[in-house]
Amino acid sequence: MTAPPSGVGAARLVARLRAAGCVFAEDEAALLLAEGLPPDALEERVRRREAGEPLELVLGWAQFAGLRVGTAAGVFVPRRRSELLVREGLAALRAVPGRSDARVVVDLCCGTGAVGLAVAVGAAAEGVDVALHAADADPLATACAAHNLRGVPGARAHTGDLYAALPAALRGRVHLLVVNAPYVPTSRVALMPPEARDHEPLTALDGGADGLDVHRRVAAGARPWLARGGALVLETSEPQAEGTLAACRAGGLAAVAVHDDDLEASCVLARA
Ligand SMILES: C[S@@+](CC[C@H](N)C(=O)[O-])C[C@H]1O[C@@H](n2cnc3c(N)ncnc32)[C@H](O)[C@@H]1O
Repeated sequence: MTAPPSGVGAARLVARLRAAGCVFAEDEAALLLAEGLPPDALEERVRRREAGEPLELVLGWAQFAGLRVGTAAGVFVPRRRSELLVREGLAALRAVPGRSDARVVVDLCCGTGAVGLAVAVGAAAEGVDVALHAADADPLATACAAHNLRGVPGARAHTGDLYAALPAALRGRVHLLVVNAPYVPTSRVALMPPEARDHEPLTALDGGADGLDVHRRVAAGARPWLARGGALVLETSEPQAEGTLAACRAGGLAAVAVHDDDLEASCVLARA
């Protein structure tokens, strides 16, 4: 928790946010005030937040893996748990055998492009060049990702259904395929917090009856795209990890599950 923002206006803002049900009202007030907006614009943002819009959409950015990632209406807000994909993805890149000019990274189902962006930034910090391709079925998402990736040299965003969005020239050349696809079972979507249910598209959340429809398609199609030593890192949940593992093994991949208690996150790491 941050220190409460100072000043009478700040105290009223905290009180309004708390009354609207914001659990971290002090933190949210501090973030809103730090935007340095004129009073009318601040009031407009506060009203949107009071009406239940996610803070990240009200601010126009989300904190992810130490980066500020731009958000957009109708595009899934990156979650902290997906930082596990970044950590495991960077480890997988380090394990790629041999030398290569640039490591080819595909962020499939990219949303804002946060995961691919964080991998590219992390790899650059380790002196590794990345050729990043982000792809999503939703053009709103790919527009948002293209904007977020504008500082990554050579990064490209593609719109289309899973692998159909990718340039054919990437077949057999992908060192890291990092994927946070929808995996909420259909019957559980209605139980999600209203911030997700009301402000994120169903196509970003609903993974079918058992939540694993898109995982099965991602896993079934991964192998021909992976380079020698390349890896698929696929976000899942702890209860669904066995199903995601089975999908990867059915796709001809050797797969293990990784859990992180601090991030409350799970993923499957799979190789050809
Ligand atoms: C849970 S969101 C994750 C977004 C982003 N990877 C992240 O972690 O913030 C899932 C994303 O998958 C995309 N998606 C769903 N079905 C897809 C498909 N068949 N092909 C490509 N993208 C798809 C959605 O549009 C959405 O942006």
